[in-house]
Formats: sequence, C-alpha cells, structure tokens
Amino acid sequence: MIAAYTTELGAAYCADSMVWLPTLEDGSVSLGITSPPFALLRQKAYGNKIEDEYLEWLLGFVRELRTKLRDDGSLVIDLGGAYRRGSPTRTLVQWKFLIRAVEELGYYLAQEIYWNNPGKLPTPIEWVNKRKLRLKDPLNTVWWLSKTEWPKADTTRVLQPYSERMKKLLKDPAAYFTPKERPSQHHVDNTFRDNGGSLPSHLLTIPNTESNGEYLRRCKLASVTPHPARFPAGLPSFFIKLLTDPGDLVVDFFAGSNTTGEAAERLGRRWMACDCDRSYVATSAFRFIEGDEEAPGAYRAIMTGEPVSLASRQMRLAVG
Ligand SMILES: C[S@@+](CC[C@H](N)C(=O)[O-])C[C@H]1O[C@@H](n2cnc3c(N)ncnc32)[C@H](O)[C@@H]1O
Repeated sequence: MIAAYTTELGAAYCADSMVWLPTLEDGSVSLGITSPPFALLRQKAYGNKIEDEYLEWLLGFVRELRTKLRDDGSLVIDLGGAYRRGSPTRTLVQWKFLIRAVEELGYYLAQEIYWNNPGKLPTPIEWVNKRKLRLKDPLNTVWWLSKTEWPKADTTRVLQPYSERMKKLLKDPAAYFTPKERPSQHHVDNTFRDNGGSLPSHLLTIPNTESNGEYLRRCKLASVTPHPARFPAGLPSFFIKLLTDPGDLVVDFFAGSNTTGEAAERLGRRWMACDCDRSYVATSAFRFIEGDEEAPGAYRAIMTGEPVSLASRQMRLAVG
C-alpha cells in the first residue's frame, strides 16, 4: 500500500484499517496506541456505530493487531465511557470490550489506566449541568493490553515531578522526617535518594486544553476543518516512552490528526498511522511540514493522492 506521506521515521496511510492492518509485517509492532471513534449514542462528526455492532467492529481491528505485535508488545486503547441514549445510566461497552479482548482474543490486561482530563467539558448537559443528577466525569479508561504476560515497560522513563513536600524532604531529610517503625514493622529511615522524580501512578492527569498551536494555525491557513477529537500530545508520549525504545515501531490505526505519529517522531521511534478520512490524513501532515506556507500545498497534494515526502529532521533536533 502506498503511503499518503512519509517522514524520516514514519508513514501515514489513508485506508480502512481493516484492509491496512493485514499489510503490516507479523510480529513487528512494539506498541499499538489508539483512540477509536467511540460508540457514543449521540452521533459525532467522525462516524460512530451503535453499541453491539460497534463492539464486533472494534474487536476486529484489535484481533488483527495482535498478530502484528511483537511478543513484548502492547496495545494501549483509550475508551471513554458513555451514557445510554435518553437515560442517566451508563453503557458497559468499554468493560465488555476489555473482557472480550482478554477472554476471546488472548490479550493480557497489563494495567487499567485512568486518564484524568481536567479540561473535559461536563456531559451530558442534561444530567450533569441542568438537572444535577450525575457527577462530572473527567476520567477516561485507557486499557493497557499486552500480547504476553511480559510486555516491555520501564517506569523510570516516565517519572513524575516530585511534590513540593518531597523536594523539601530530599533537600533536608532531618528537618522534615523522623525515622520510626511503621505499624507494619517496616523501618523507614531518613536516607532519601533523589531518583529524578517519583514513580507514576495509573491515574494520569493530562489536560486536553493544549491549543495544538501549529496544527490549528495551519488548518486555518489551508481553510480546512481540524480534527474534532485529538489526543493531547502528552498521552501518546507517555506510553511511547514507557513501552518502547528508540527505533521501535509504534502504530495508530485510528490516527485522526496523527498526534501519535508526531509524538513518536519527536521521541525517535518509527511509526505507521492510518485513518480512513483523507482530509484528516492531509491535515495531519501539518504536524511535519517545515513552515506554515507549505500547508495549503501539502494538503492539496495529499487530497489528490500524490505521495508526499516530508522533512522532519528539524523536529527531532528540537526534542533535545
Ligand atoms: C477519535 S479519532 C482519533 C483521534 C486521534 N487520536 C488524534 O489525536 O487526532 C478516531 C479516528 O478513527 C478514524 N476511523 C474510523 N473508522 C476507521 C477505519 N475503519 N479505518 C481507519 N480509520 C478509521 C476516524 O476517521 C477518526 O479520525
């Protein structure tokens, strides 16, 4: 299959991923990370299916991806929750997905992750804002699935900044901590080592309020509608660092604006991305072009099916 555009480390395709995924080499992918169109019961601009059909449909891609994963590979899938149509009660779709991916497709649940998006607007307005019957829900479930019980992972690559209290403790342990025996009989002394940050928990706080400056600006310049449901760059970056090494292959099969490809390129990982909507694929090239003035031309070329090769060296240098 011919890529819509390529960069130094990646390639973006415009196709139905059910057709595209089988073209990948078996056992080649270290990380699949994606955010599917969700079975929200309110139609969104990017094509949702109703719940039962949706599960079957989604599991088809996930089954196909499994053969493409390396034995130490992972699939990270962001599946937010949803309310049932016209009712203040929730669907079980993301839990059903998880159970079937594990019990039928042979994945392991490495860990369930909760993505706290403080910028998420409270929905549905009817239950949360107007009638005040339900709580705001800034958490999305993100399932970390693995092909075997031992996916590659290193949490020291995603250390979180120390709290102010911990910083003080590290500076002057004697002033802030008295060594004593805990009820558990563990003895905690006051020799604290600065490890460069604290170990991350499975509650990730990443606001989705970033302006995506360059991407949005270039969409405007080319007079095209930006993708309506983009990842914050911090989400794919976190999992790419945690679960892959430089040079590994990262794949997003519902790539949208290709936030994943951009994060992978910045982090020196190879990437492949696919979306069935040519306009989304074309705008995603804006993440890799050298200057704003290239946006309209790159968009036109990709829309007419001309394969485009984009420079990206500058971007990698910018990573530091
Ligand atoms: C939630 S969006 C992904 C957004 C992406 N994470 C980002 O940061 O821009 C889901 C995407 O899946 C794409 N999609 C839906 N069905 C598809 C299919 N069969 N094959 C490939 N892409 C598909 C839609 O066009 C949409 O862009």
